[in-house]
Amino acid sequence: MAAALPIVSTTPATYPPCALPRAGLYPLRHGRNVRRRPLRGTAGQAIRESKADRAGLFITSKVSPEHLQYDDVLRACDASLRRLAMDYLDLYLIHWPSRSIPLDDSFRALNRLVADGRVKRLGVSNFDLSLLKNSQILAATPIATNQIRYSLYERTYIKNGLLAHCQANNILLTAYSPVKEGHLKTHPALQAVAAAHRASPYQVALAWLVAQPKVITIPMSSNPDHQAENFRAADLELSADELHRLDASYERLDRSAGRAHGDQSG
Ligand SMILES: NC(=O)c1ccc[n+]([C@@H]2O[C@H](COP(=O)([O-])OP(=O)(O)OC[C@H]3O[C@@H](n4cnc5c(N)ncnc54)[C@H](OP(=O)(O)O)[C@@H]3O)[C@@H](O)[C@H]2O)c1
Repeated sequence: MAAALPIVSTTPATYPPCALPRAGLYPLRHGRNVRRRPLRGTAGQAIRESKADRAGLFITSKVSPEHLQYDDVLRACDASLRRLAMDYLDLYLIHWPSRSIPLDDSFRALNRLVADGRVKRLGVSNFDLSLLKNSQILAATPIATNQIRYSLYERTYIKNGLLAHCQANNILLTAYSPVKEGHLKTHPALQAVAAAHRASPYQVALAWLVAQPKVITIPMSSNPDHQAENFRAADLELSADELHRLDASYERLDRSAGRAHGDQSG
């Protein structure tokens, strides 16, 4: 039986084997992490060295937009499995929608990967509401997640209805870049809630996310202390009043920042 999707997982910037059994390993790229610094060996090597039980790991990988034609999807997935020395992925995502390749071409291949057992679940990333609805029609299995940029500061998907659609359709919204913004250390409402819980502002920002139905998050850290702190954030319970205060103060910040709500550069 495959491992369940963790509520707060981590992307270590390196892959120390001891961290692996706890980590939601995402995304796995051959020999590189998401910041394009070399890893110590491939993720596959690190997993083998850790002697971690495959059933206890949740392995996610992504297919990039230039590989979304039918044959390319199959090839890309097999290449990922070879690099990992594994025979299945727990979750396979379309990283970004393609402007030129029809979505039904991609989903024919993704459906085949699920039917063959090479992939357990399908998901998408950076999909807007209309693309997500199309994916739901084209996928032979339920869409497990849409991975998008979502945080206290980045509230686009509250406003455009995507979060509500995910919640109503049992689709996990995976919030990426949850603590990236520099304001975390200085925002007064966040500081106050953090102090009340003897927690860090990073933990509160993560707890705010996972307090919402169907929201999970994937903070990245190269610091083992930060990784441990982030995992513990899943246990931090914020009161309704605290959630409201955070929402109200960030709503103001979001408006005053005057950001374009359609812009989703990852
Ligand atoms: N699907 C997509 O298109 C897409 C796009 C962008 C990102 N992502 C994914 O989202 C994940 C995270 O994204 P991200 O790196 O952009 O943003 P992030 O996780 O919100 O921010 C990472 C930064 O926060 C710091 N940090 C994390 N936890 C901390 C803590 N407890 N205390 C202090 N500092 C902390 C890290 O520094 P330290 O290393 O020093 O802890 C790092 O500088 C990655 O897995 C990435 O692959 C996906």
